[in-house]
Amino acid sequence: MDLFSNIDIEPARKRIAELTQLVDQYNYEYYMNDRSLVSDFEFDALLRELTDLERQYPELASPNSPTKRVGGEVNKTFRQVSHRFPMLSLGNTYSIEEIVDFEARTRKLLGDTVFSYTCELKYDGVAIGLTYRHGQLVQAVTRGNGAVGDDITSNARTIGTIPLRLRGSYPDDFEARGEVVFPFDAFEAFNRQREAEGDEPFANPRNAASGSLKLQDSAECAKRKLQFCMYFMMLPSHWTTEGDRSQSSLMEPLLDTHAGRLQAARQMGFKVQPYIKECNNIGEIRAFIDYWDNERWNLPFAIDGIVIKVNQVALWDQLGLTAKSPRWAIAYKFKAQQVSTPLLSVSYQVGRTGIITPVANMEPVWLGGTTVKRATLVNADFIEKMNICEGDSLLVEKGGEIIPKVVGVDMAKRKPGARPVGYITNCPECGARLLRAEGEAGHYCPNSDDCPPQIVGRLEHFVSRKAMNIDNLGSERLELLYRKGLVHDVADLYTLSREQLVGLESYDNDGLRRTSIQDKGADNILAAIDHSRTVPFERVLFALGIRYVGEVGAKKLARYFKNIDALMAATEEKLSTVEDVGEKTARFIYDYFHDERHQRLVERLRTAGLQFTTAELHVDNVLDNKTFVVSGVFSRFSRDEIKAHIEQHGGKVSGSISGKTDYVVAGEKMGPEKLKKAEKLGIPVISEDDYLKMCEK
Ligand code: IVH
Repeated sequence: MDLFSNIDIEPARKRIAELTQLVDQYNYEYYMNDRSLVSDFEFDALLRELTDLERQYPELASPNSPTKRVGGEVNKTFRQVSHRFPMLSLGNTYSIEEIVDFEARTRKLLGDTVFSYTCELKYDGVAIGLTYRHGQLVQAVTRGNGAVGDDITSNARTIGTIPLRLRGSYPDDFEARGEVVFPFDAFEAFNRQREAEGDEPFANPRNAASGSLKLQDSAECAKRKLQFCMYFMMLPSHWTTEGDRSQSSLMEPLLDTHAGRLQAARQMGFKVQPYIKECNNIGEIRAFIDYWDNERWNLPFAIDGIVIKVNQVALWDQLGLTAKSPRWAIAYKFKAQQVSTPLLSVSYQVGRTGIITPVANMEPVWLGGTTVKRATLVNADFIEKMNICEGDSLLVEKGGEIIPKVVGVDMAKRKPGARPVGYITNCPECGARLLRAEGEAGHYCPNSDDCPPQIVGRLEHFVSRKAMNIDNLGSERLELLYRKGLVHDVADLYTLSREQLVGLESYDNDGLRRTSIQDKGADNILAAIDHSRTVPFERVLFALGIRYVGEVGAKKLARYFKNIDALMAATEEKLSTVEDVGEKTARFIYDYFHDERHQRLVERLRTAGLQFTTAELHVDNVLDNKTFVVSGVFSRFSRDEIKAHIEQHGGKVSGSISGKTDYVVAGEKMGPEKLKKAEKLGIPVISEDDYLKMCEK
């Protein structure tokens, strides 16, 4: 039954305007001033009412409605857009002398004119330009090559600190430029979540911000908690102001200086960082630079320098441009912070695939906001090239990356007669003699079947989400099972009994309990192991952990050979005819299956009931291109299985709920947030059984 069918369009228009204004105001206070004016419950109710009305009257739904903050639009590709005004870059330097020269040159060029500079932070993120017409955000474009960028408007709309409509008085047509940054705390939480889900973490917040703006699903971007830091207002030479006319006369003089423009932008609803200072001479500029060189680690986001601009806009034309940057501004880039600290010892880590990584243990030292005591020495070549000797002090740097890097030896502290650091010849974990593959810089331990970290690493990989998806078995439990002698290889998992599991406990060095398994835990583990027997062949193949056979490669091999026997019998030549399988990978696969131990392992897994043939795909279109979101834990499928099932039956799968979702398939423990959102948008939530019935049609 249509809730609003008897409401005339005019009251709906009025109510939409009221709700929009309220929600905009609450959002503004929340994102700009960190203040919640209403409870989450009330806020959600208003947003739900607005969403419902917009569904009912799509012709009244504005592209800048606050309902767009949650995303939902999916872009397969990003439209390329020419910038109306090129996005120039700045001349930049690491040398304070060049800043002194810049200041002297500018002063000379401007002669008797009275002027000042602004100093502000150089945000380390992704540059974008936002076009506003009549107070409405109409387009967001990345810098790209400065002339052409990508249209990322739907993702930009999800960033809370980007105003969708402006407040007060504003120029009727202008561009707001700034940097999208990923604040440190949100970035770290996001990376931790990625790791938990078996994805590679991002190296730094900038890369993560850039990846986020290019996400196809804007609802995913909405989850990332990005921020926009505005640093520039690009006004066409002829502009007028509109909006609240009573304020425009106050605003116009503000637009004559850069600092004033940022101040005006703040009044329009942009997030403008307060760390901007008007400076009158080089001494003040230097003081600002020195202050932030030390203080930058206390900011909630990354900066990589300071930008100095002539403050008076009228002087910009007079100073003009060089080939690619303006003469009225310059960027000072911070050098990576460096310290020298004594090397205490070198230890060696053994990875899942047996790769050895040497690690420098150093006298703890404070660097860029954290205490550093360990850093990778990469491999034997690195140690040799750096000529690291025993008793040396190392130079350690922290640049834009979060992880500190050893960049050299502090030769002033080299002790006479110091001997080069020797490299181990045997595995520190199992004692096997290390090997070094021809043409590779790293050593590895070849004893893959009996080297403890390699065994546990293989088990971890086997149970991981994208492989056999055996929940409830984290690294600590796997290590415990291995140390108790219950599991030595992946096939042993299928022989575990309840009696063996119940009561197992492990403690760390401080005597604190790390993990223990009780009745219910044991049942859950056994059920998850049992369920893994239904995991399709391609994922079983990936789970075996054959070097260089990733998720995609395993899929292609499984589709090509259809069963493990054909794969095991294949020649190297045949293997390398499979798409994406190069000669090197073909050799590894061939060698893997020609090792008797692996043949026995496959037999034991086959006996345990794992899938070693590709199920014939039954493809149809009963689901009629409908879009599904799956959430929670299912009894008949793993999450990946139900997604594949949907696609096989002609449906589409999306990662998050939006206006375009047709059904949400809810398993056990579906997140309350998702449920709330589905209800809010009026999307049917169906059970696993309902879903299966739908497929039978
Ligand atoms: S002003 C014409 N101010 O640094 C002036 N740029 O080459 C345009 N950046 O990619 C730039 N923080 O995206 C300006 N406070 C700031 C900035 C800033 C970061 C970026 C900008 C550009 C690069 C300069």
